[in-house]
Amino acid sequence: MKAVEVIGGYPLNGELKVQGSKNGILPVLAAVVLQKGVCVLHNCPDIQDVRETLFILQDLGAVCQFRKGTITIDTENIRNIHIPEHKTSRMRSSILFLGAILGRFKEVSMGKAGGCDIGSRPIDMHLNGFSKMGAFVEENDEAIQAKGRLEGTDIILRVPSVGATENIMLGAAMAKGVTVIYNAAKEPEIVELALFLKQMGAQIYGEGSSTIIIAGVKELHGTEYTIMPDRIVAGTYLLAAAATRGKVRVHQVNQEHLGAVKVVLRQMGAVIEEAADSIYVNGEAAEKSLNYLKTEIYPGFPTDLQSPLLSVLSIAKGESHIYESIFENRYRTVAELRKMGANIRCYEKMVVVHGVDSLYGCEVEGHELRGFAALVIAALTAEGRTKICNKCFAERGYENIVRDFLKLGGKII
Ligand code: UD1
Repeated sequence: MKAVEVIGGYPLNGELKVQGSKNGILPVLAAVVLQKGVCVLHNCPDIQDVRETLFILQDLGAVCQFRKGTITIDTENIRNIHIPEHKTSRMRSSILFLGAILGRFKEVSMGKAGGCDIGSRPIDMHLNGFSKMGAFVEENDEAIQAKGRLEGTDIILRVPSVGATENIMLGAAMAKGVTVIYNAAKEPEIVELALFLKQMGAQIYGEGSSTIIIAGVKELHGTEYTIMPDRIVAGTYLLAAAATRGKVRVHQVNQEHLGAVKVVLRQMGAVIEEAADSIYVNGEAAEKSLNYLKTEIYPGFPTDLQSPLLSVLSIAKGESHIYESIFENRYRTVAELRKMGANIRCYEKMVVVHGVDSLYGCEVEGHELRGFAALVIAALTAEGRTKICNKCFAERGYENIVRDFLKLGGKII
């Protein structure tokens, strides 16, 4: 297992361009299966989850090429409708091939999805959705199978799940009739998938609101599309600037997608300046605690930035209260931050952070993607040298976290 080593105590300074969105491209890569032709995707992040997804597409029979941020996929010869468990278990988003393959081939069998260990992560809403659309769905401990021509219907989600909304959109794009998803997720990644599907010829209305209407079409076609910037990666670097009391400009961002993050940074005392497609943060005075913050569905503060935020608050002045409302077990980074001297206590979904003057370098372990990034942020602020194990987690979602922090003046190897 690879590790990174950080010598902390240096404010970050500089600018960098944000990569394409991980959670934006993964559903799009599943959606290409719906058509029989060629799709060309630009601004693709070169991350492990994308590489693994391309392996799945190749296994299915697609011809894929990834060069300089552009992915070309020819799905003409897809015949296989089975994805083995050792491929699906590598990431959460593999579940999206369920809707895409079922939508095009009326049949699919696949292993269970994996992903970050942040709670039980059930898929009941995905499967119930396809059952309600007329598919025969079977699930056991290792595998899922579904069969049948999907038919449009009304689907009411118990909670506005991002993955379930995306999966049902994929299945509904070529279903017979109209599907209406109530209590749908409103995240920018949903809008991204809808825009891509529409460019392939799908008829979708209401994306970005809590009711999405999809009128099934007979056929979709190949297209060319540019993936949106990654709001979580941008947020990671903005929070790192605040934590180290540095000055950083991140380019290629969507201002709207980062609304809640900017509010929180300002509450902590950071100065934020917005330009057309960049955000500048001056974190010299970003030392205030947050009385209460709850992670929320979009446009609220994203759960994916909860751990990076904890790192910033660990050295804030005063007491902060953070409530994780999306996932049931997303505080595994807390124990690692405590090893570094953070004063944090967990009370089920709530954590209380008493800011300390400084964190101290030691050996810590990343347990999941965003938790790893949080530990890098903490290490950049800490006195001395920190070794962070399990770099593989960062590689799932950050193109090159070491390169990026080096560019900003971080002492990291
Ligand atoms: C996606 C993102 C993840 C982000 C999350 C919330 C990807 C690949 N991942 O994950 O980075 O943190 O959205 O913004 O895009 N749930 C059920 N039953 C279901 C589905 C979900 O109970 O069938 C629950 C989950 O356990 C969780 C909540 O709904 O508590 C939200 O999960 P969901 O929005 O589905 O997250 P993901 O799509 O897995």
